[in-house]
Amino acid sequence: MQSKRPHISILEDEMAAFFAESELKVYVDGTVGAGGHAKRILEEHPEIERFIGFDQDPQALSIAKETLAPWSDKVELIHANFEDISKTLSKMKVKAVSGFFLTSEFHLCSSIKSKRDLVF
Ligand SMILES: C[S@@+](CC[C@H](N)C(=O)[O-])C[C@H]1O[C@@H](n2cnc3c(N)ncnc32)[C@H](O)[C@@H]1O
Repeated sequence: MQSKRPHISILEDEMAAFFAESELKVYVDGTVGAGGHAKRILEEHPEIERFIGFDQDPQALSIAKETLAPWSDKVELIHANFEDISKTLSKMKVKAVSGFFLTSEFHLCSSIKSKRDLVF
């Protein structure tokens, strides 16, 4: 992330609709970026107990920290490549997540939701 320029989070409405009926407890965003998707999920899912956001760019994480300040008691921002998500969550003793979202620089979007939690 080069600057604090406004960032438009792609597919935000689609993401929100995807999780609308879900009861989220532990949620992982693999590319938290400026925190746009994260803010929307935290606003719409007050039941989230633990939000873990990964990003490889420390500057993006610093913007996300500001954006997500209202939820600082439940947000953990991790400076890491999403390739290491599974390993990092294991180290953090996270046994399962109920929501996972990731967007890439190529503007592809993938989300995983399951009736059963994802298990690491
Ligand atoms: C598509 S945006 C994410 C948008 C974000 N969800 C939002 O609402 O602002 C791109 C972000 O993905 C991060 N990113 C790209 N590849 C990554 C990787 N392999 N691991 C971690 N973060 C990555 C970039 O550093 C950048 O901050």
